[in-house]
Parts: sequence; structure tokens; C-alpha cells
Amino acid sequence: SNTAPASTERSLVLIKPDAVRRGLLGEILSRFERKGLVIEALELRTMDAELADQHYAEHVDKAFYPPLKGFMTSGPLAAVVLSGDQAIEVIRAMIGATDGRKAAAGTIRGDLALSNRENLVHASDSPDSAKRELALWFPKL
Ligand code: TYD
Ligand code: MG
Repeated sequence: SNTAPASTERSLVLIKPDAVRRGLLGEILSRFERKGLVIEALELRTMDAELADQHYAEHVDKAFYPPLKGFMTSGPLAAVVLSGDQAIEVIRAMIGATDGRKAAAGTIRGDLALSNRENLVHASDSPDSAKRELALWFPKL
């Protein structure tokens, strides 16, 4: 049952260049809309190297980062601010595990991705990262 009081949150979601290339932008946005999340901001953007390094600050020293950076800067993505009750956790559950090959069926990655790198969507993973990422992508919001 849902007895907890509503706690509206905002999350930063990126619908990545693979999704745009594959024509899945509408499908992915539609899943979030049907869930009841509210689109507060939506912009097509192309990440540059500096924004990539800031966005993925926790990963810049990892072996997978150079190809990840190449992928994330390879074309336009949709930067989206979504809001709703417990939106951060709800969206993470909807996108599924990082590796599309292991993500559960029913999740966006589980249904539509087959890669550990090109996994269609980013979403803030905690209130602290949401705050940081929203400031980075939508400083005026
Ligand atoms: P991570 O923050 O671990 O995953 P998530 O996007 O689920 O929060 O990693 C960030 C991105 O880095 C991930 O979406 C895809 C990429 N990545 C790789 O390319 N290889 C890897 O081994 C991992 C763990 C991530
Ligand atoms: Mg992450």
C-alpha cells in the first residue's frame, strides 16, 4: 500500500546518442510519461568533452571511460528533467541494470539494449547526484 507521504523529486535523465540514432527517443520518453512522471525540461544537446568529464567525474580514471566518452559525445542526446513522487528511485528501477545484457526484461535497458556501454539512458542515482547533475545540465532551472 502507499501510505508514505508524497515526496516529489527531480531527476536528470539523458536519452543517449544510441537511442536517438536508433529512433527510440519517443519510445523511451513515452515510457516515462505513461508512468506519470512530468517532463519539466527537454533539450536536444550534444555533449562536449568538458561536459562529459564533469558529468562522469566519478568515472574519468576508469578503463572504460575513454570509449564511453567517445560514445557520449558522438551525436545528439536528449537531456530531460523529470519530476514525480520518489522520481529518482522510480526512474532507476525503470531503466534497469547498467549492462543491457543483464538488465531485467520490462526495464528500458532490458527490453531495448544489448550492450554494457550503449545502454540508451542515464539517470541520476541519488538525491545528491541529481542535485549535482541538474546544476550541470540545467543551471537556470
Ligand atoms: P555506471 O555509473 O556504473 O552505470 P549507470 O549508468 O547504470 O549509473 O556507469 C556509467 C556508464 O558507463 C554506463 O551507463 C555505461 C558505461 N560503462 C561502461 O561502458 N562499461 C562498464 O564496465 C561500466 C560499469 C559502465
Ligand atoms: Mg551511474
